[in-house]
Amino acid sequence: MTASSMEELVSLCKRRGFIFQSNDIYGGIKGLYDYGPMGVELKNNLKQAWWKSMVYERDDIEGLDASILSAPVVLKQSGHEDTFTDPLVDCKNCKSRWRADQLIKNTCPECKSDNLTEPRPFNLMFKTAIGPVDDGSSFAYLRPETCQQIFTNFKNIIDSTSRTVPFGIAQIGKAFRNEITPRNFIFRVREFEQMELEFFVKPGSDEEWHKYWVDKRIDWWESQGVNKGNLHAVEVDKIELSHYSKATVDIMYEFPHGKEELEGIANRTDFDLGSHTKNQKDFNINSDVKKNEHSTTKLGVQNLEEKTSYIPYVIEPSAGVDRGLLAILNEAYTVETLDKANTRTVLKLKPHLSPIKAAVIPLKKNNEQIVAKAKAIKNELQNLGMGRVILENSGNIGKNYRRHDEIGTPICITVDFETLDDDSVTIRDRDTMNQERVSSKDLNQFYQKYFH
Ligand code: GAP
Repeated sequence: MTASSMEELVSLCKRRGFIFQSNDIYGGIKGLYDYGPMGVELKNNLKQAWWKSMVYERDDIEGLDASILSAPVVLKQSGHEDTFTDPLVDCKNCKSRWRADQLIKNTCPECKSDNLTEPRPFNLMFKTAIGPVDDGSSFAYLRPETCQQIFTNFKNIIDSTSRTVPFGIAQIGKAFRNEITPRNFIFRVREFEQMELEFFVKPGSDEEWHKYWVDKRIDWWESQGVNKGNLHAVEVDKIELSHYSKATVDIMYEFPHGKEELEGIANRTDFDLGSHTKNQKDFNINSDVKKNEHSTTKLGVQNLEEKTSYIPYVIEPSAGVDRGLLAILNEAYTVETLDKANTRTVLKLKPHLSPIKAAVIPLKKNNEQIVAKAKAIKNELQNLGMGRVILENSGNIGKNYRRHDEIGTPICITVDFETLDDDSVTIRDRDTMNQERVSSKDLNQFYQKYFH
């Protein structure tokens, strides 16, 4: 099941501490959101699942965590200074600003006037001053995508790991874009996170690898609980391709507001390493790169059979963490009818993504023995390292179940008077609501099964 509207998700996210409007108490800033106690856990779990599948479960990918502030020359060479723009129009009537390509019938969405300026390019990159003097001479960009520092670190990583092509470099981190019209909750924001892999391959094998990564990525989203029927691989039209791309497949997802891009998988050819390399003329670069007079490093690799060097091609699966989280919340959101008068809202998250893995509930909050036993169970499960386990020692049991259904906790464990007699606890399953009595000594095994 999915949510019937974005409002349902926004409301749950605020009510249960997943996502809040940033700077809320001062009126907020458009396009910025904060992740609350549940949101930060869900986000970390999603990023960890991606990292695990990219770095730990493969033997051909290394990780990186590079700086967010980028030297202007990097984004000059990458083409962002010249081309990373959206067409901006002003409404002369109400003075609002819009993205020209998102207007319907060329009218202002605010006041419906058609008295608009001609579209002009608006660069989406944020700038900030570097050093103590803000005179415009020394500045950096907040990176608009995470991948550029993967390219600038290419040689460092090859030299320090002895990797040979094909291999990849993975990175998760913040990216910033001064979106003209941020909208649809966390779908289009100004500060967001990306999970990007740059996979370096031999020219000629690029199309095969491109297809490989499209299939892999769809399977991965499915393994995170996204119904395959709601995912669509769409080939981007040639005229809409980014300046670096020979071919891009967008994985589109049916978000509550419509079918839109969740992840893009691009064949970036030799554009990136070709743009950042020293001595470009020493290589047979196929793409249309900007002349480079600043780089200090050659970014080619050896073709051992032919005793030549070449610039590898890049296949890039680039996913948005925030969009992924929105898709996963939407997929998990379920409203069930319990009886004629009652429904329950439950987040049927895959257990590895659940913000809280188990809630341990002492049935009598003022009974020292029961509370001590509940604490001991909490600590024991916590030490298994599967994620956050919580001691739920406020509110009644009905309210506790309701809250944990809504935040997607796979199991609630109740400690009661019987526990003191026979060392057993009651386990309630989130999805079936079935309750079963389990001996404390079997609890670890029972609990761990949820995460495999
Ligand atoms: N390095 C390639 C690149 O950045 P992109 O299609 O511009 O490609 C990749 O971005 C992914 O980043 C998108 O599929 C989307 O999930 C996410 N993304 C891009 N802009 C975003 C925004 N303003 N808000 C939230 N997510 C965004």
